[in-house]
Amino acid sequence: MKILNFGSLNIDRAYSVENFVKPGETISSLSMETFCGGKGLNQAIACKKAGSDVYMAGKVGADGAVLLSKLKEFDVDTDHVLIEDEEFSGHAIIQIDSVGQNNIILYGGTNRLITRADVDKVLADFEAGDILLLQNEISSLDYIIEKGYEKGMIIALNPSPMDKNLLRCDLGKVSYFIMNEIEAAAISGCRDTDTALEELRKKYPASKIVITLGGDGVKYFDGEKVYTHGIYNVQAVDTTAAGDTFTGYFLNGVLEEMEPMDILSMASKASAIAVSRPGAADSVPTKDEVLSSTLRLK
Ligand code: RIB
Repeated sequence: MKILNFGSLNIDRAYSVENFVKPGETISSLSMETFCGGKGLNQAIACKKAGSDVYMAGKVGADGAVLLSKLKEFDVDTDHVLIEDEEFSGHAIIQIDSVGQNNIILYGGTNRLITRADVDKVLADFEAGDILLLQNEISSLDYIIEKGYEKGMIIALNPSPMDKNLLRCDLGKVSYFIMNEIEAAAISGCRDTDTALEELRKKYPASKIVITLGGDGVKYFDGEKVYTHGIYNVQAVDTTAAGDTFTGYFLNGVLEEMEPMDILSMASKASAIAVSRPGAADSVPTKDEVLSSTLRLK
């Protein structure tokens, strides 16, 4: 069984600011750093660091060599990352404030140039029973879901960032949802998380559902029971890629057939460690770091 992560690759420009810029305001940043990111790239590296073998598929531009070498640094297979020489890779402009919160503006670049023909070409190398991990930062997502399902692949979706394109996809084909409370509210139409989870279970009876709740931890319906887990106590430096780290560790835990509470504990700890460090993919901890961590629940 292989994991194919079909997703975005971004060059992240992260600006440290005292407070986020307000409408009409011009502010100076305290510092700027460039990182490799994109929810696709981050989640591929998180799966790999957690212990799974991963194939990354996506598209980069002429400036994408740095993204490919970051994936290679962590031994993620890049044979299915296409290169469009005439275009720019995706990028993200990220503000990080003094308490480590972020906000992000995306430029899709080559992430939005994935065609149906590209999808057919990539999926031809995968088969029934393989895992297809997806987020919502690339074009042709609806087609990838349709074709992956047709092949019998097991679809895991992190529906982030939420937008109307996402709601046009056939989400009934998704086996695992890993989402936050905002995404859960948008997909279910219910603001309260417990009601949203109930509604999602009714709408997608064959799916397993994770809802992360920020400071309130996480809920996981594994098809039989709802499990809840709290968050670990860390000094937040940069929340970028915390959700991506959780997703990679969660999926690896499922593949390793770990107990649900152990999966949630590993994934929550890994994402807490990521929050305590700057950057996106580089902030994801290794499995050894997670296992040896002495973090305590809040
Ligand atoms: O989830 C964090 C990621 O979102 C960043 O790396 C940025 O590139 C955006 O895709």
